[in-house]
Amino acid sequence: MKKVIIEKVEQQVRELLQHDASGHDWYHIDRVRKLAMQIQCEEGGDAFIIEMAALLHDVPDEKLNESEAVGMAKLERIFDSVDIQDEAKEHILSIIKNMSYKGGNGGVVTTIEGKVVQDADRLDALGAIGIARTFAFGGKKGDLMYDPEIPIRDKMSVEEYRNGKSTSLNHFYEKLFKLQDTINTNAGRRIAKERHMFMEQFVHQFMKEWNGNE
Ligand code: ADP
Ligand code: NI
Repeated sequence: MKKVIIEKVEQQVRELLQHDASGHDWYHIDRVRKLAMQIQCEEGGDAFIIEMAALLHDVPDEKLNESEAVGMAKLERIFDSVDIQDEAKEHILSIIKNMSYKGGNGGVVTTIEGKVVQDADRLDALGAIGIARTFAFGGKKGDLMYDPEIPIRDKMSVEEYRNGKSTSLNHFYEKLFKLQDTINTNAGRRIAKERHMFMEQFVHQFMKEWNGNE
């Protein structure tokens, strides 16, 4: 039964996100799902809730939809297409609503299932893939790769985080380098450490080349 639900949901999410060029395409979802299941093996939690929340986590995202309401309606349509218990649905919804970073203004995930999925999503923002996604997102948004005239922002509101002027390189300081300290699980922290170091090397090399040094 659960396998059928997962397959149905997977198919719909694949269709919805197949053309996203901002780093939130189907393969992001699939990586998050796989990472989440890998972390679940070590940390526990209900595998069905984790897999469903991972598959659905970006469907209602405000930045991928005309509005939050439009995104939530898409999510409801998917829930309506499967036979899922109210309790499971509510748990998945609460994970999805609270897991996003939002410039440090996100909610709090309280259950082990939420912590596992949040870790998996944050890990996919780090490392080589995290770097690639950041420049893809920045390009789509119209941000410059880097501009020494544009300062790195410290604390910011959700509105400033989403629409304020910044660069992809600034995003490493405004979000990505902060993520390591927000990881919930030991399994997640191990993976985050390696990816964090790789990004530090990348930024170091980027600045070296920018400044024309050998
Ligand atoms: P949130 O949007 O809450 O930061 P997401 O997990 O949806 O969280 O963001 C996913 C990824 O999209 C980020 O890790 C990053 O790679 C990219 N991204 C989001 N905002 C920006 C931005 N302002 N500039 C560059 N990349 C961004
Ligand atoms: Ni995501």
